[in-house]
Amino acid sequence: MSKLSGHATGWFVIATADELPVGKVLSLSYFSKKLVAFRGEGGAVSVLDAHCPHLGADLGVGGTVVGDSIRCPFHAWRFAGDGGCVEIPYDRSDNKAKSLMRARTRPWTVRERNGLVFVWHDRNGRAPTYEIPIIAEHGSLDWTPWTLSLMTIRTQPCEIIENVADRGHFPAVHGTTLNEFDNEFVEHIAIQRSAGIAYPRGGGSDTFRLTATYYGPAYQVTEMESFLPNRLINAHTPIDDHTLHLRFGVMLKRMGDEKKMARYAQGYSQNLQLGFAEDVAIWENKVWRDRPTLCDGDGAIGALRRWYRQFYDHPETEQEQEQV
Ligand code: FES
Ligand SMILES: [Fe+2]
Repeated sequence: MSKLSGHATGWFVIATADELPVGKVLSLSYFSKKLVAFRGEGGAVSVLDAHCPHLGADLGVGGTVVGDSIRCPFHAWRFAGDGGCVEIPYDRSDNKAKSLMRARTRPWTVRERNGLVFVWHDRNGRAPTYEIPIIAEHGSLDWTPWTLSLMTIRTQPCEIIENVADRGHFPAVHGTTLNEFDNEFVEHIAIQRSAGIAYPRGGGSDTFRLTATYYGPAYQVTEMESFLPNRLINAHTPIDDHTLHLRFGVMLKRMGDEKKMARYAQGYSQNLQLGFAEDVAIWENKVWRDRPTLCDGDGAIGALRRWYRQFYDHPETEQEQEQV
C-alpha cells in the first residue's frame, strides 16, 4: 500500500453532539473542503458543502439557523438540510421557483450515534454500505458520559490505522507488556484483541484485556477490562492530505460516587492523551514505507494494509494492489 491518494470511503466523526445544540452553526474543514453543520429547530443535524451556490459566501461563517434551514450571511438565501434552496427573500419574479430549483448545495449523509456526529464520505458519491453500531453503555446511568479530547496531527490516516496491527510498537512506544495480541479482519471491520499490563506514565500498573474494533476506516470502539471497565473511542477525520483531527474519548463503569468517577475519568483521559502524544511524536516525524522490512514478531501489518485498501477503491488504488 503506498500512501493512498484521496480520502477514504466511510463514516467520519465531524463533531460531538454537544458541540451542536439546536440553532448552532459549525464551520468545518474536512476532506480538503469547507463544510457547514447545523442543528435545526426540529433537532436534526444537517451537513452541507459550505459555499453558497449564489455568490459563494461560506454558510458556516455568519450563517444562521432559521427553522430547519440555514440562512446565508451574504444575501439571506436559505437552504434546507437536503441542500435545496427554500427562500430567496428579494426575488418576487415569476422565475423565483426556477431560481430556487437551480440553487443547490451538496448535502452530506449524516448519522448521530453514541454522542457523535458522523458524515458519510465517498469521493464517488455512493450511498453508505455499513452502519455505525450503537454503544449500549452510552447514555446508561451505570456509565459516565464521554470525556472527549481532540488533537490536530500532521500525519496520514494510514499511520493511525496501522496501530491496529503494529504489535511491536506497544512495548517500545507505550511501555506496555503484551501477553496476548491478535487481529481479525472481516469486511469493513478490523479487530484487535490484546491483553497485558499497561504502565501509565503517571505511575502504577494496570492489567488489561481489550477488544478494539474499527468500524470502517476511521472509527474505533474499544471495550476494555482493566482497573475500571471502560469504553474508548478513537476517530480520525482528514482535514486535507497532510493533517487530520483525532478525537478520542473514554467512558467508565460507575463504581463510586460522582466526584470519584470524575477524577478517574480525568485520569484515564490524561493517560489516553499521553499515549497518543507518544504516537504523535513518531507519526509526525516518520516517513511512510510502501515496502517495509518486516520480521515475524511484527504481526498482521500486511493483512491490515490489504483490509484498509478497500476504502480507497478508485483507479490509483487498484494499480497499487500488489505492492505489499
Ligand atoms: S452568496 Fe449566499 S445568498 Fe448570496
Ligand atoms: Fe500507539
